[in-house]
Amino acid sequence: MSFAADILTLYPQMFPASLGMSIAGRALERGDWSLATHHIRDFAIDKHKTVDDSPAGGGPGMVLKPDVLGRAIDSLAVDGVVDDRPRLLMSPRGKPLNQAMVREFAAGSGVVIVCGRFEGVDERVITARNLQEVSIGDYVLSGGEPAAIILLDAIVRLLPGVMGSDLSELDESFENGLLEHPQYTKPRVWEGLEIPPVLLSGNHGAVEKWRHEQAKKVTKTKRPDLFEKYES
Ligand code: ADE
Repeated sequence: MSFAADILTLYPQMFPASLGMSIAGRALERGDWSLATHHIRDFAIDKHKTVDDSPAGGGPGMVLKPDVLGRAIDSLAVDGVVDDRPRLLMSPRGKPLNQAMVREFAAGSGVVIVCGRFEGVDERVITARNLQEVSIGDYVLSGGEPAAIILLDAIVRLLPGVMGSDLSELDESFENGLLEHPQYTKPRVWEGLEIPPVLLSGNHGAVEKWRHEQAKKVTKTKRPDLFEKYES
């Protein structure tokens, strides 16, 4: 069973973007996952295809209409049956994305992703359609589309078969609560800087020990917040 991603957006032309290239693109071509975009504007029913309106109570910007977005979400049901994929709304108000959440999404059958625009989305549709808000960080993008691409990139590389026999994800950043140890490759000396000799010693145990110590050191310096969690 392959992983199915459905995107609801006002800018379907922003997809697949980088998801059509490299690892994610090859996996898409192989059918390890699927991507369908749906234009929210197709679910506006008035002559002008209106998707947004001014905020109740006043204020700047526009709000995505609940009736239009509600219909767009409901259109994904097959014969009236809604599947059990999580329905996500990309939003700076959401739960901050982390690798544990990415692993959980990747273990499921897919995701439905709503990309917000304007000042936001009418709160009632968030509640009524059980949208789970997800943020990719404490900064504001002009829309949820780049955030959706980032989320899917992180998910797709964890899907079975996508990374092939490459097990490097197992000791990469976050998988064990630490950032990744430094990496080096040839030449042995570059601009007078040497590869740490232990890495060329052929002593696998010593290499592993060095990498683990370095991972701790890097995490402690760059991300003291993560290191504190790791130690506790
Ligand atoms: N839309 C706008 N800003 C966002 C963010 N930081 N994360 C997710 N979606 C967004």
